[in-house]
Amino acid sequence: MRRTLAAILLGTSTLLLPCLTHSQTWVGDSIVNPLTSSPGDVARGRAIVANSQVGLCLLCHSGPFPEERFQGNLAPELTASVGQSTPAQLQARLVDPGRFNPSIIMPAYYRSTGLNRVAPKFAEQTILTGQEIEDVVAFLVSLQ
Ligand code: HEC
Repeated sequence: MRRTLAAILLGTSTLLLPCLTHSQTWVGDSIVNPLTSSPGDVARGRAIVANSQVGLCLLCHSGPFPEERFQGNLAPELTASVGQSTPAQLQARLVDPGRFNPSIIMPAYYRSTGLNRVAPKFAEQTILTGQEIEDVVAFLVSLQ
């Protein structure tokens, strides 16, 4: 009886686990499906990129942010990094840059498995949500 109960509880908790990452359809070097049902927003994306607690992009990159005094120089300037990449390619770079360059220092913003040294309270969480990834991609595309 106790074992049945445990099995039921285990089953339920598995069912209740939130789906943390939206499914991604990779084709070559791109993720071709959107990660949310609502389109990305350029202004929100800009705010995420510039925010030193959310996107952290300016820790390494610099970019067209005259109001930000401290910008990074560990990575190319953001407009140059975006180059001529398509939205689907940019999405893939943000989700999992290590796929393209295993030694890259840029974090995987939308991957919850296979990460190193994750504090327990952040286990199985992604750095950005699917919507935030879409917003950042919209902003990056606006730089082109
Ligand atoms: C810890 C440092 C770091 C952070 C934080 C970081 N990046 Fe990067 N990023 C890099 C480096 C280094 C490269 C260059 C990789 C290369 O040239 O192979 C790069 C490359 C890129 C590229 C080009 C990728 C490609 O292969 O074409 C884009 C786009 C980009 N970053 C956007 C972002 C955005 C947007 C953020 C924030 C959400 C961000 N990065 C945060 C270090 C970082």
